[in-house]
This record gives sequence, structure tokens and C-alpha cells, in this order.
Amino acid sequence: GSCLESVKIAIDTGYRHIDGAFVYYNEHEVGQAIREKIAEGRIKREDIFYCGKLWNTCHPPELVRPTLEKTLKILQLDYVDLYIIELPMAFKPGDAIYPKDENGKIIYHETDLCATWEAMEACKDAGLAKSIGVSNFNRRQLEMILNKPGLKYKPVSNQVECHPYFTQPKLLEFCRQHDIVIVGYSPLGTSRDETWVNVSSPPLLKDPVLNAIGKKYNKTAAQVALRFSIQRGIVVIPKSFNPQRIRENFQIFDFSLTEKEMKEIEALNKNVRYVELLM
Ligand code: A2P
Repeated sequence: GSCLESVKIAIDTGYRHIDGAFVYYNEHEVGQAIREKIAEGRIKREDIFYCGKLWNTCHPPELVRPTLEKTLKILQLDYVDLYIIELPMAFKPGDAIYPKDENGKIIYHETDLCATWEAMEACKDAGLAKSIGVSNFNRRQLEMILNKPGLKYKPVSNQVECHPYFTQPKLLEFCRQHDIVIVGYSPLGTSRDETWVNVSSPPLLKDPVLNAIGKKYNKTAAQVALRFSIQRGIVVIPKSFNPQRIRENFQIFDFSLTEKEMKEIEALNKNVRYVELLM
């Protein structure tokens, strides 16, 4: 229930881009929040930008459309604005989200990312997704799609970890050259949940530089981190279940960082991921 409430507060606050996924198991709540806000007359469907994700067990081309249709059924929406391949590796299809063998090792699955991409293109042609993109792709994986013979649609975006401690300068430059938008996940340095986060990297929001710059503008380290990313042309998707922080993370359009401050923050890059995706 907390997701339903948070999305409603976010929409009231002014957020329009909602980053979701089947594997977050809350698409029913997100869909309900959007539909309630439409019914209230606060927004129209076209004001919302919903991003859904194709999970690793659904890469075989024949599974792509049925998987998106399942997401749409859960959301009770007719289309998603963006549908992305969540990760560039495939797991064995089936009900297990993390299929494992008797030794606890993930069971991978041979698929051709280009064939998966063609099925994504078909979803766009069918009107089920307005745009299609990828996530966690490196340059070589992007090139594989971009160089695919008969490519119909380029990925519009690549969602990757991106924040002041992991600034992705090379990937950002490559994506800029190819008109691919970088969507930065964990823009605040994650929830530091040890089950999936590398907590040996220090907490981003405690950073002295971010806090000192924040003080100057009467902003928090979180607001400075988000502002830094948007000034670099990166789309940010901060997560919060807390109404006050949801609002705080939206108050980033009334100040701007100087070129010197941008450089100072860029210099914080440690080139270390919080989300290592070790599987
Ligand atoms: P909460 O949901 O309790 O607000 P990321 O977006 O990088 O994944 O980070 C999400 C984490 O950061 C969550 O644990 C969230 O906790 C916390 N968080 C979100 N906004 C802020 C903020 N403005 N200041 C401090 N922590 C925040």
C-alpha cells in the first residue's frame, strides 16, 4: 500500500515520470495511483510517462509481447510510454524470477539480444509501447543493437547507475553521440540495502562537498546530487516512500550549480558501483 500512496503524493507534487518494472511487484499499485489521479481530473493519461521493464526470464522474442501485455493488464493501462530491456543477460524462462540450479547458481539462457530487440520493435509498432530502450547496457551491447542489420528503431534511452560517485563519463559521451538519453538510477546513492548494494562504497549523501554546496543554496545534499545530474542532461529517478523527501527531491528547479561547482562534483567520481549486479 505504501507504493500507491507514494505515487499519488508524487503526482500531486508534480512528478510525471514513473519508473516501474514487473519485478518490483507493485505495478498494480502504480497503475491504481495513476488511474485514481486521472479520475480525480488532476492529470490526463498523456501527462504521465510510465517506464516498464522486460525481465531477464522473458528475453526469448516470443515472450516479449505477452510479457508487456501482462504488465499492461496489471497496470490497467493501454500502453506504456517506454519499455526497456532491464538487463542485457537472459535467465531461463519460467515462473522463477531468479532460476537457480541445485548449487544455487543462476541458470542463464542463450538468447540473441538482437532478436529480443526486434520483438521490442514489434511492441512499439503495435502501439503497446510509445518508445523502446534498454538498461544496464554497456557500449558494446549498445553497438550490437545500433549496428543490427535492418534496425527499425534505435533505443531511445539507456538506464544505468549514475550519480556523483559513479558519473559514467565515457558511456554518457557515447550515448550523447547516438542521441540515447541516459536515465540515471540510484541518483541518491541507493537505499544501502546490503542484500543488493555494495555498502563498502561510502554513503553519497554524507559527502562533504555535496553538503557544503547545498549549504550555499539552502539545499540538501540530495537536491545537489539530483541537480548535478539534470544539469549534465541525465534523467533522474529518485526513489522515496517519504512524503517530505518526495517533495524535497522535486525542489531542484529553482537553483543552478555553477560550472566550477559542477567540476568539483564531477571530481568526486570514484568509478565504483553501488549496484554491482553480481548475478
Ligand atoms: P526513503 O524512501 O525513506 O525516503 P535512490 O533514489 O538513489 O535509489 O535512493 C533511495 C534511498 O534514498 C531510499 O532509501 C530513500 O529513503 C532515500 N532518500 C530519498 N530521498 C532522500 C532525501 N531527499 N534525503 C535523504 N534520503 C533520501
